[in-house]
Amino acid sequence: MAQQRSKLLVTRTLPQLSQARLDKGFDGIDVVQWKEDCAIPRQEFLKLAKGADGILCLLTDKIDAELLDAAGPQLKVVSTMSVGYDHVKVAELEARKIALGITPGVLTEATADTTVLLVLAAGRRLREGVDAVIQGKWGPWSPTWLLGSQLNDKTVGIVGLGRIGVAVAKRLKAFGVQKFVYQGTRPKKEAEEEVGGHVEFVDMDRLLKESDVICVCCALNDKTKDLFDYDAFSKMKKTVVFVNTARGGIVEQEGLIRALREGKLGSVGLDVTVPEPLPQDSELLSFPNCIVLPHIGSGTHETRTAMSEMAIENVLNGIKGERLAFPHDS
Ligand code: DGY
Repeated sequence: MAQQRSKLLVTRTLPQLSQARLDKGFDGIDVVQWKEDCAIPRQEFLKLAKGADGILCLLTDKIDAELLDAAGPQLKVVSTMSVGYDHVKVAELEARKIALGITPGVLTEATADTTVLLVLAAGRRLREGVDAVIQGKWGPWSPTWLLGSQLNDKTVGIVGLGRIGVAVAKRLKAFGVQKFVYQGTRPKKEAEEEVGGHVEFVDMDRLLKESDVICVCCALNDKTKDLFDYDAFSKMKKTVVFVNTARGGIVEQEGLIRALREGKLGSVGLDVTVPEPLPQDSELLSFPNCIVLPHIGSGTHETRTAMSEMAIENVLNGIKGERLAFPHDS
């Protein structure tokens, strides 16, 4: 009797190397893929998921009960090409014994690079400088024009001293940062040692009040949703450089806009917003001291290829009923 074939749904075209693997195919697996140059529309996702044994998705694809019902009881694995999985209803997967794979570790360096990029860009008023050059507002050299702040001897607050938080701190140390304060679920001695120097676990209030720079590096979950609201921004130094490369939902965006409007913040650098993409008429884009990037923290050839390769490995493991190489709870 012929062996039954499995179905793998992939919700987007992958980086070249991984796409070539998908195009070549896998023994016993039919690959169905959304290849348009946009996130898979919900109705299409529900339709194509039907009968899938494995789904390789992105952070733009909501995985909830409706989707799992549409897929059917044979679904064994959801593999997201991301380290964040706030788009996945984990409890729904667990209740159905569906494995969840993520891509930890490989995007640490790229995301930490982007965080530092935003710290420097916001702190040194890059947007205003570039705009001035393009708009012909560049006058003779001036001792007082477009002055920013530097990092040496400063205090940096890191919210979430996980892999990315540590990588950010290690990079910023090279700029002469004097002290790191951090917040998270608990003190992390190993992470402190990895960073080295003065690293202190503090309560949120102290972090907000003492930090010259604040980097958001934590996951989005029930505890961190809207963590940075107007009240939090009001407690920060008026010169603060606030950077978020984690998830837009960790910031209560209306509160951020109000704080910017009232001149409560030095400068802001964001790689993530709510929603994404951010509408062009968002007030957030009107502040010269706020730089917004389009969620490209992990956007290097090296990292995206590593992520897609891990996502393929996870989904193939799951379809074969094997333990995932990179499960979400590893
Ligand atoms: C992730 O993997 O969660 C990142 O946000 C992608 O850059």
